[in-house]
Amino acid sequence: KNIAIIMGGYSSEYEISLRSGNVVYNALNTLEVYNSYRIHIFENKWVYVSDASEEFPIDKNDFSVVVNGEKITFDCVFNAIHGSPGEDGYMQAYLELLKIPHTSCGMYQAALTFNKRDCLSVLKPYGIKTAESYYINFGDVVDEDAIIKKVGLPCFVKANRAGSSFGISKVYKKEAFKEALEVAYKEDDEVIIESFLDGIEVSVGVISHQGETKVLPITEIVSENDFFDYKAKYLGQSQEITPARISEADAEKVSALAKKVYQILKMTGFSRSEYIFKDGEPHLLEVNTVPGLTKASILPQQAEAAGISLEELFGNAIEEALK
Ligand code: DAL
Ligand code: MG
Repeated sequence: KNIAIIMGGYSSEYEISLRSGNVVYNALNTLEVYNSYRIHIFENKWVYVSDASEEFPIDKNDFSVVVNGEKITFDCVFNAIHGSPGEDGYMQAYLELLKIPHTSCGMYQAALTFNKRDCLSVLKPYGIKTAESYYINFGDVVDEDAIIKKVGLPCFVKANRAGSSFGISKVYKKEAFKEALEVAYKEDDEVIIESFLDGIEVSVGVISHQGETKVLPITEIVSENDFFDYKAKYLGQSQEITPARISEADAEKVSALAKKVYQILKMTGFSRSEYIFKDGEPHLLEVNTVPGLTKASILPQQAEAAGISLEELFGNAIEEALK
């Protein structure tokens, strides 16, 4: 079967996506079951990139490519694009229109979960706890006193639709909102401001595996930086401890919650959601539907802790997509 591994993307996360995509490519090649093709998706070009780094343009009419006179079509797309257009529903909608199976969740799930504000609003009525929040759009008058009254200090200013901590700042004082908003608006014109939850942060991977919804071992995140920012994530300035050093009861509680979130949202494929324990209760931060798959990323570490090799993890994702 021909598998297109899509990577790159239009957002600040493109470098991470290229790393994720190459990890998938190497693992699938080791498996020797599929014919894998690396497809780079950038705003100005969609191309198949051969091992010799030759580029062949993708025909967007049917997502095919002509290589040395031969037309290649794909049986499945492995989605390794973080951020837009791979994690926000656009690629899902495009592939679903073309009836090409893909490894990620559906277009609605992607669009919803990529919008932190909307996703949390959908989940709250199910009793899922979240941080106190305040929303603001580009151009709105900023009432710092109202923000502080609602969420307190310190707080997090976040781009509403972004990943890998791009557009996120921790704000300690009123005067710092201006710069934090500028950072956030570089990524998105919608901003979510959340209260700081002082507690243990954990990350929970949930996957569709061999026909079942499987919760992977929980990871505890200990950042050496002020929070789990880009440098902490990718430059080793953090410790990710799997399994998390929490009680069995807490582990069960947050595992059940992550599974519930997955099921409420009718997710498929991979997902990784983040929680902070406050007053003994896990509070949901967000749901990622195209979690990082680089060597430094959490989901591959969790899979390994569950005894699932990368080859098995990715091969299974394709088999689930083809069902
Ligand atoms: N957005 C990054 C890739 C992650 O969630 O792992
Ligand atoms: Mg994220």
